[in-house]
Amino acid sequence: MRLVCSVFIGGFNLMRSPLLEKILERIRPDQRKRLRRLVRPAWLGTIRRTTPLSERHGYDRGTPVDRYYIERFLEEHRRDIRGRALEIKDSVYTDRFGADVDRRDVLDIDAANRRATIVGDLAAADGIAADQFDCFVLTQTLQFIYNVRAAIVHAHRVLRPHGVLLVTVPAAGRMSPEDKPSLDYWRFTATSCSSLFGEVFGAERITVRSYGNVLTAIAFLTGMAYEELSRRELDANDENFPVILGVRAIKR
Ligand SMILES: C[S@@+](CC[C@H](N)C(=O)[O-])C[C@H]1O[C@@H](n2cnc3c(N)ncnc32)[C@H](O)[C@@H]1O
Repeated sequence: MRLVCSVFIGGFNLMRSPLLEKILERIRPDQRKRLRRLVRPAWLGTIRRTTPLSERHGYDRGTPVDRYYIERFLEEHRRDIRGRALEIKDSVYTDRFGADVDRRDVLDIDAANRRATIVGDLAAADGIAADQFDCFVLTQTLQFIYNVRAAIVHAHRVLRPHGVLLVTVPAAGRMSPEDKPSLDYWRFTATSCSSLFGEVFGAERITVRSYGNVLTAIAFLTGMAYEELSRRELDANDENFPVILGVRAIKR
């Protein structure tokens, strides 16, 4: 076993060595690719299956991976959650991360949501008065809104001057099997967020950050829980493989 391990660890290091890359350059491309697969095999283990490990985003195994990043984003900006706050669906994040919150409102398009203090469509929210909120916690909702630009315009409108919008959107993620028909329209990129929010708030008043890496994106897709990953694995950031994007936007 030790021998097998050292061969593979040796192979792994070899694959990164400039000398080997030089040797590889001299052999035929098909042989080169075969050698790469041999020296650096993809062992998929228990995720070598065409169905996910969880049908519930990982809730049946622990906490979904995207929640780790959503909570990290809100933790980083907890000082913004203050004064009069608005959140979608419930006030769980305002309650958990907010400081000096005087009043909390909950917006939902779903009239059956008893926690909603405001029932309405964020994309057509003319019924909500302008300049009311110091903070709007808008997590994991914009993917469900077809006219996402209209929703951002209203999110900006209902904020007070200097009010802060804290948004998270999915970059990767499965469709929910329970949503039939699916109302899930979008996945986002750092570029689309910079344009969408920059056009409404002004480019200099927004920051966009990506959270995740290739391992956590795969883990999230297959429905692993974040408790199954190490802190080091979760915290490694690779902008090429975002799980979510966090946007902080300040109204002028
Ligand atoms: C997955 S929850 C996201 C919010 C929750 N705080 C979270 O972080 O998971 C999506 C919520 O957005 C609501 N929603 C969907 N489209 C909406 C719209 N156009 N305007 C307002 N709420 C909407 C849904 O009814 C649902 O309660």
